[in-house]
Amino acid sequence: MSSLPVDIHSYGNPGESRVRHVHLDLVVSFKEKKLKGTATLALEPAGRRLVLDTRDLTILQVNGSKEGFRLGPRDPILGSPLEIDLPSGARSVVIEYETTPQASGLQWLAPAQTAGKRSPFLFSQSQAIHARSWIPIQDSPAVRVTFSARIQAAAPLTSLMAAVQLAPGRFHMPWPVPPYLIALAVGELQFRPLGPRTGIWAEPPVLARAASEFEDMEKMVEAAERLYGPYRWGRYDVLVLPPSFPFGGMENPRLTFATPTVLAGDKSLVSLVAHELAHSWSGNLVTNATWRDFWLNEGFTTYIERRIQEEIYGRRQSEMEFAIEVDELKEEMKELPPGDQHLVIDLTGRDPDDGMTGVPYVKGALLLRGLEEMHGRDKLDAFLKRYFDRFAFQSIITADFVAALHESFPQDDVSEWLNQPGLPADAPRISFDFETVPKRTWETQEWLHWLRNQSQPLTAAHLREIDMQWDFTHSGNSEITAQWLEMAIQASYEPAYPRLEEFLIEVGRRKFVKPLFEALVKAPGGVERAKNIYAKARSGYHPITQATVDAILK
Ligand code: BES
Ligand code: ZN
Repeated sequence: MSSLPVDIHSYGNPGESRVRHVHLDLVVSFKEKKLKGTATLALEPAGRRLVLDTRDLTILQVNGSKEGFRLGPRDPILGSPLEIDLPSGARSVVIEYETTPQASGLQWLAPAQTAGKRSPFLFSQSQAIHARSWIPIQDSPAVRVTFSARIQAAAPLTSLMAAVQLAPGRFHMPWPVPPYLIALAVGELQFRPLGPRTGIWAEPPVLARAASEFEDMEKMVEAAERLYGPYRWGRYDVLVLPPSFPFGGMENPRLTFATPTVLAGDKSLVSLVAHELAHSWSGNLVTNATWRDFWLNEGFTTYIERRIQEEIYGRRQSEMEFAIEVDELKEEMKELPPGDQHLVIDLTGRDPDDGMTGVPYVKGALLLRGLEEMHGRDKLDAFLKRYFDRFAFQSIITADFVAALHESFPQDDVSEWLNQPGLPADAPRISFDFETVPKRTWETQEWLHWLRNQSQPLTAAHLREIDMQWDFTHSGNSEITAQWLEMAIQASYEPAYPRLEEFLIEVGRRKFVKPLFEALVKAPGGVERAKNIYAKARSGYHPITQATVDAILK
């Protein structure tokens, strides 16, 4: 990208004054649930005016003064623009500020919400537009920055950032990244190496379990490099967070953040790591320049995730998961407005988090799978390698991808994929035969498939019979538990209710919490039960999960 695209989700004015480097000097106050300190921004170009994104930040001073800046009105989605008058010739600006306890990009956990139960915990989640709730910045994925930081937290807490650690609490990110990839976590954390450049960070009680679940990580990095070229970020570590983490995983560079709900004990959910690792190419190296182009991040990543998985766990496993995803996508699309079934979607007036459906992920992956089937693996892989090289450390829009595609494959027309609902008639079909393996050797995905295909409507008597044989109410696998509990709600299968309440209080992962509350409000007497459970669970949820459930119960 030579010129900057319009990003409707940022107030920033990078065309006039553009942030290039951010230095953070922050104190972590668990008592006040605030980060406090300064952000020093280096600018190039530097005009007479700088506009930054903020959301619920308290701006104390700019360049040591209480004047020369204005905080605009708060938009519910975008937050408040911070407009700063720059003295002529100024190439940097120092902003003294504090976050507020309800910052949408931070979650402050009490000791009881951690595995160790002794110390508090803080983590950030900046994607899509939450970096602005803890850093005053031009919060557009088109505006890449390098950064450095000093983070002060009281012992025995460890601070981690998705960056190179220079010394305890001191960090440096020498490669330019979009603001949504800036990440911080503070807690009682320990490290265990897995390979020469891979390892696990987790609370001590979780560390051994996490290390054995993710033991194939070094092999995954090697497989991805064979396919798509060198891993350019140095180390690849995974940080396992407490169960309130609202997502499965987040591809923060050098340090993926992950939910503990993938620690199934049998590696059956580790494709999450393949996914977040794949973002080291698609997303972190080549980045969507606006949230309209989100499919460039997630579609490419979902495709590469399957390829890494195939390398390590074989074609059967990768095709099975792909087939399940495609089935889910088809189901989901039945309910989605046509415009949201396009790969390139219109987010005018909307929160970019609304674009997080299966479409950018699975329809995007199918587009690439279609190219693979048409041109052959070798040609597609060579194209992808060139694409990552050519756009490395840049942010691009869909048109940049299309132009690059046409250089390699001049005849290809992907416009129907990009701008039409549903799947094109010639979309590839992913077929998988679930009937080939006996039940007692089934793994997570086979069980999920079987459960989802139980005859409708479900009855409590039918679920009781299944539960007697397989005891799903006490499954140790979060995916199976969540699927089972949803069915239990639909069938009013009461023996599962205590487990439902316990699960919803412990786990804040939005993928599980959302469908369970949606099912509850549809069930007879369910609204009452949903409200009772939520009264106990809400304070433990991340602001993102809170907003999701608030909307369901409003
Ligand atoms: N980058 C996403 C998470 C995300 C997307 C956060 C949009 C906020 C806004 C991450 O890579 C992701 O896709 N995570 C998935 C898991 C994955 C295996 C499909 C998730 O969290 O469910
Ligand atoms: Zn992703």
